[in-house]
Amino acid sequence: MRRSALLSLVVTFLAAREARGHISIWHPSMYGFNVTDKTFPYDNRPVTPLTNYTFDQWWFHGHLDYPPNPGDFFELPAGKPATAEVACNKGLTSYFASSEGGDVRQGDNPCPSDDGSFPSGAMHTVDFNDLKGCALAIAYESDVTKIKPEDFTVFSVNQTCVWTRFTDFQVPARMPACPEDGCHCAWFWVHSQLSGGEQNYMNGFKCKVTGSTSNVALAKPTVPRRCGADPENGKADTVPGNCTYGAKQPFYWFQAERNNMFEGTYAPPFYTDLYNFKDGAQDDIFADSYAEIPTPSADQTIVPTPLEPSSTAAATTSTSSSAPPSAPTSQPTGQVPFGTPPGRCSICKLRRANGTAVRKRSLFNFELYAHSKKARSFSLWHPF
Ligand SMILES: *[C@@H]1O[C@H](CO)[C@@H](O)[C@H](O)[C@H]1NC(C)=O
Ligand SMILES: *[C@@H]1O[C@H](CO)[C@@H](O)[C@H](O)[C@H]1NC(C)=O
Ligand SMILES: *[C@@H]1O[C@H](CO)[C@@H](O)[C@H](O)[C@H]1NC(C)=O
Ligand SMILES: *[C@@H]1O[C@H](CO)[C@@H](O)[C@H](O)[C@H]1NC(C)=O
Ligand SMILES: *[C@@H]1O[C@H](CO)[C@@H](O)[C@H](O)[C@H]1NC(C)=O
Repeated sequence: MRRSALLSLVVTFLAAREARGHISIWHPSMYGFNVTDKTFPYDNRPVTPLTNYTFDQWWFHGHLDYPPNPGDFFELPAGKPATAEVACNKGLTSYFASSEGGDVRQGDNPCPSDDGSFPSGAMHTVDFNDLKGCALAIAYESDVTKIKPEDFTVFSVNQTCVWTRFTDFQVPARMPACPEDGCHCAWFWVHSQLSGGEQNYMNGFKCKVTGSTSNVALAKPTVPRRCGADPENGKADTVPGNCTYGAKQPFYWFQAERNNMFEGTYAPPFYTDLYNFKDGAQDDIFADSYAEIPTPSADQTIVPTPLEPSSTAAATTSTSSSAPPSAPTSQPTGQVPFGTPPGRCSICKLRRANGTAVRKRSLFNFELYAHSKKARSFSLWHPF
């Protein structure tokens, strides 16, 4: 009762307009920190997905002209976790003060829905087991105009992103220090094909490695390859010889220009073991990580071993574990219960399998197109 009354209030009194938006990282060091749906001729908030865009539109989310204030950096403590915030609206984060709608935080929930259901549509996941991870990449370059897509190296993955607002990224212990004026980093996310269309997410930000103890540079990153078990596409087992080892670029997928991945709609590239992105710190990205890396292929029988695996692994927590992450036993604080994962969404699967449109609302709102014959649509009132 109260909830629907509140919704009608929102609908009636705020200049409600439909806006599409999903999730981004939020931090004052980011490009586009204060970009709203009015800043560009189209809705180019940091949370909007990037699909079929020109290079200028998708690279750094088109936000190069909206840099952070001088001196704002996201710190990456070598060998320790860096905690980032991901959310579908800035008002849900610690930086709510500069959000159009003020403080609407709900604990650790990255994107509350108006009906209390979790996960909300903007999270693009059926349930905990459908999460596909997100990544942080780095380029050791202070001048943003000099960075090319091929310069970014993924250094940390969180395979259970975007389940919580506060998201930990383990920083490899051997990350060298950045140049005087800092490095550039970017957050990348590609979600499950079961929960929306071909979307890429990229948000650039300024970053700095702290507590560095190594001078060894990163290796030149190469394109990741699909080498993990892929039963949905007829591949039961992993094909280790087909993996890219060492420093890997992020995925640039389904844009109008400058893609490095050409996977189809139903087989997106993910920041998971499917592309040899282990959960946590990517400890094998350095120039001296391997003596030699053989050319990967489906027939390759030689699998390279990192030269210093244990020393770095010991120095970092929860790195390189290929055990699947398990569902949290307690829900993030300050939000409605999301039930016992993974059971709570059996209903979503049923609906999807049945081809019936599912309608959900989110307070922060969008439309979501799922891949199946039918679209799951959210008609959302965007209150800000
Ligand atoms: C991408 O955009 C172009 C031009 O707007 C359009 O012709 C094309 O169909 C779009 N492709 C996809 C995959 O959406
Ligand atoms: C964002 O907006 C806030 C509040 O107006 C302001 O203090 C801050 O400097 C702005 N940041 C950037 C990067 O423009
Ligand atoms: C991913 O983030 C969650 C939430 O902060 C955290 O519990 C988990 O340990 C992180 N995973 C890794 C591999 O760091
Ligand atoms: C090997 O990787 C390529 C590139 O990602 C992919 O197209 C191919 O399906 C993979 N083959 C096997 C057998 O894993
Ligand atoms: C599938 O949808 C139809 C209506 O389109 C409905 O009659 C049927 O009960 C649904 N089946 C399941 C298993 O949900």
